[in-house]
Amino acid sequence: MTDHERLILDRQLDPATRQADARRELRAALERDPREIPSKYFYDDAGSELFERITELPEYYLTRVETAMLRDLAPGLIERTGACELLELGSGYSIKTELLLDAICARHPHARYLAIDVAESALRAAAARLLPRYPELRMHGIVADFTRPLVGVPEGEARLFAFLGSTIGNFAQPAATELLRSIADAMQPQDRFLLGVDLFKDLITMEDAYNDAEGITAEFNRNILRVVNEHLQCWFEPENFDHVAFYDDLNCWIEMRLRTRHSVMLRIFAFDDERPYILDLTRGEEIRTEISCKYTRAQVEAMLRAAGLEPLEWHVAANDFFGLALARRLPPDAASTDR
Ligand code: SAH
Ligand code: AVI
Repeated sequence: MTDHERLILDRQLDPATRQADARRELRAALERDPREIPSKYFYDDAGSELFERITELPEYYLTRVETAMLRDLAPGLIERTGACELLELGSGYSIKTELLLDAICARHPHARYLAIDVAESALRAAAARLLPRYPELRMHGIVADFTRPLVGVPEGEARLFAFLGSTIGNFAQPAATELLRSIADAMQPQDRFLLGVDLFKDLITMEDAYNDAEGITAEFNRNILRVVNEHLQCWFEPENFDHVAFYDDLNCWIEMRLRTRHSVMLRIFAFDDERPYILDLTRGEEIRTEISCKYTRAQVEAMLRAAGLEPLEWHVAANDFFGLALARRLPPDAASTDR
């Protein structure tokens, strides 16, 4: 089979529906108090590339630490779980996924890799790298929002569901538990779930990770306005916004915002109202673009249980910076008493 024949790429929504959904979602978020832009809009082609540059920054310990953990843990995890298929949510460029695929393909060369991500360019880049590396692997990419009901995910046997990078942390409660519950609902009893989570640590380390000296995170943050401009056919000027990132002690999360340097009056024509929609921002007003929760082990395990998942293993990095939890779906009767 050629590389091309080993790849299936599905789009969950046609472009027109996707566009209409995005406009509705962005309008509701921009009207919220405080104003917001959902973090999934970071990931257009440029945003996905900027995220990859973030993962290489000295301050952004998350990827480096999780990768080192997976390097040690992957062979044992795959042996213990018996996984012969990998399903990954928010897979991006699937770089550290290779550590899991190395272990799976060593035992099952014909394995299948299901990757779900909103960023089509990231899925394509991942396929272009992975298919030559694993000559018998079949890859099925699904361009979809994993917070929406997933359709078109094929059945499988002994699958490892992976949700890495602490992407779960980009969701507040109850959305995070709901997302985990939807994953649990898609799992069969023999499937296993691997969750990567960033752990609470000293303030300077956490805040520096989102305020790098090179300014790549600031560039990533501002790029979201270009994505919004595309969707809403409007004209936010990213260079007129300051990047803000700080630890919120009450919520235990890093929050990223964009603060406008001037007052802004933006006319948005894309909402199909009779008149253009006017978005008024006063000087210094902030738009929240991301939260990134920092957890304790107890919080992670409580969240898994609340979602109908039973924690089986807990692994923590040598410096206590990052955690990996392995879980299985609770039997339906146990889950209903636990929820
Ligand atoms: N798993 C990789 C990438 C993490 S970046 C890693 O650990 O390094 C977060 C990824 O999740 C991006 O690729 C982004 O496109 C994707 N993503 C974010 N929100 C999403 C959503 N709602 N639905 C699907 N994918 C999403
Ligand atoms: C993808 N997500 C877990 C990253 C995070 O750390 O919250 C995205 C990111 N934002 C700024 N830097 C990286």
